[in-house]
Amino acid sequence: MTDRSLAVIVLAAGQGTRMKSRTPKVLHHVGGRPLLGHVLDTAGALDPQRLLVVVRHERDLVAQAVTDAAPAAIVVDQDEIPGTGRAVQVALAALPGFDGDVLVLSGDVPLLEADTLTSLIASHRDTGAAVTLLSAVLEDASGYGRVVRDAEGGVTRIVEQKDASPEEAALTEINAGVYVFQAGPLRTHLDLVGTANAQGERYLTDVVALLRDARHRVAAAAAPSADAALGVNDRVQLSAAAATLNARTVRRWQLEGVTVLDPATTWIDVTATLAPDVTVLPNTHILRATAIAEGATVGPDTSLVDCEVGEGATVTRTDATLAVIGAGASVGPFAYLRPGTDLGAKGKIGTFVETKNAVIGANSKVPHLSYVGDAEVGTGANIGAGTIVANYDGVDKHRTQVGDAVRTGAHNVFVAPVRIGDGAYTGAGTVVRKDVPPGALAVVTGSQRNVEGWVIAHRPGTAAAEAAEKAAHGSQEEDG
Ligand code: UD1
Ligand code: CA
Repeated sequence: MTDRSLAVIVLAAGQGTRMKSRTPKVLHHVGGRPLLGHVLDTAGALDPQRLLVVVRHERDLVAQAVTDAAPAAIVVDQDEIPGTGRAVQVALAALPGFDGDVLVLSGDVPLLEADTLTSLIASHRDTGAAVTLLSAVLEDASGYGRVVRDAEGGVTRIVEQKDASPEEAALTEINAGVYVFQAGPLRTHLDLVGTANAQGERYLTDVVALLRDARHRVAAAAAPSADAALGVNDRVQLSAAAATLNARTVRRWQLEGVTVLDPATTWIDVTATLAPDVTVLPNTHILRATAIAEGATVGPDTSLVDCEVGEGATVTRTDATLAVIGAGASVGPFAYLRPGTDLGAKGKIGTFVETKNAVIGANSKVPHLSYVGDAEVGTGANIGAGTIVANYDGVDKHRTQVGDAVRTGAHNVFVAPVRIGDGAYTGAGTVVRKDVPPGALAVVTGSQRNVEGWVIAHRPGTAAAEAAEKAAHGSQEEDG
């Protein structure tokens, strides 16, 4: 019976009390996506006929996340009756007449892979069981429901930690919270689930014993690894899930030809992409939709959020968000690229440079100690060390335009709005308040005045005066 239809029900109505958070548990992130997003992604990969998500706590927030991740999913509201059994019951009510297989997933079990679920469904269909649950053997099973088996090894029931006898609590085989049911028997037996348990809830897990008592076949399939079954109930498990997912992501890119020197300190979101022969140095975060092209080197100590890094570019000790870094360009060390930064091919943003809304053309350089905001710099220009683009007049932001092949001196201020024409120069210390025509040299003439002998007269006895006296002597001797 391989043509049976499949409905997936994702449970996401709980509050997640153990997270101690204002954010609903299933909206906490790992690998750049909410826990629920990972589950919906995996569910979507199975191409089910129906995908339902049960919500209640922070209903609108969670429903929005569902729509973002899986627009085709149906959002079902759980009523005030608590428990995973109740959650599945309300979802089934939204599937009148459905008679295929029902895969139940938990919104807080984010590391399952579609392959695992495909095998679970296949094994369920092969054996004709009324339920096939995913189990795992954990060193530390605390917090999970335990799988109780009879002398022949058949699954008899699942007992929650809070309801377990000491012998049951000592069992190490756990229920991963992932099951395939035949819709008919599930419907009938869910109606029989009571609330006589430590939490006073309708447990979905109770259906297992009810099915077994009614002589249905009940089966368990082992998860491929303990990691896959990890449920996130608190922040300790959240970080464990993040680390496991990250290790998986790093390994995947390594096998695609990316050099990652130190997987333990490299964090790559599932949404990022890296080309072959990219090198990632330690302590580097490659986040959200960041895309890194072939041969680029990023890190160490670099964080890229929604950035594009071109072929062969180098990004060292840099913090960048929504920035585009051209092919062969060089950024850092110690650069801060804010949204709207667009550095052309072979360009350079150097040390202690901050940029924002700045288009810097191919082969142009901002090498040292500068702020460039709301500006366009042409190609092949060089911005002198310590230049500040004064883009803000206290009320409004204004733009600065710097032409091609411009050379500006050290310690300039460009007071926006202002234009510096193609091929123009500016002298050191220029405050550019007026447009500079192409090819002109702009200088500000506040000329230097030297007050001879001032230090010896006004700072006698200081090291400076002593040095000045010595210098005066030296020059007298030379003169004589
Ligand atoms: C549940 C299982 C446990 C299993 C573990 C695996 C039950 C009774 N227990 O325990 O056997 O080992 O998962 O991770 O099912 N939810 C709802 N509505 C509710 C309550 C919960 O939709 O009324 C959702 C939650 O949002 C969550 C999922 O169901 O996504 C599991 O609920 P949770 O409270 O975390 O159950 P556990 O105690 O972890
Ligand atoms: Ca849980």
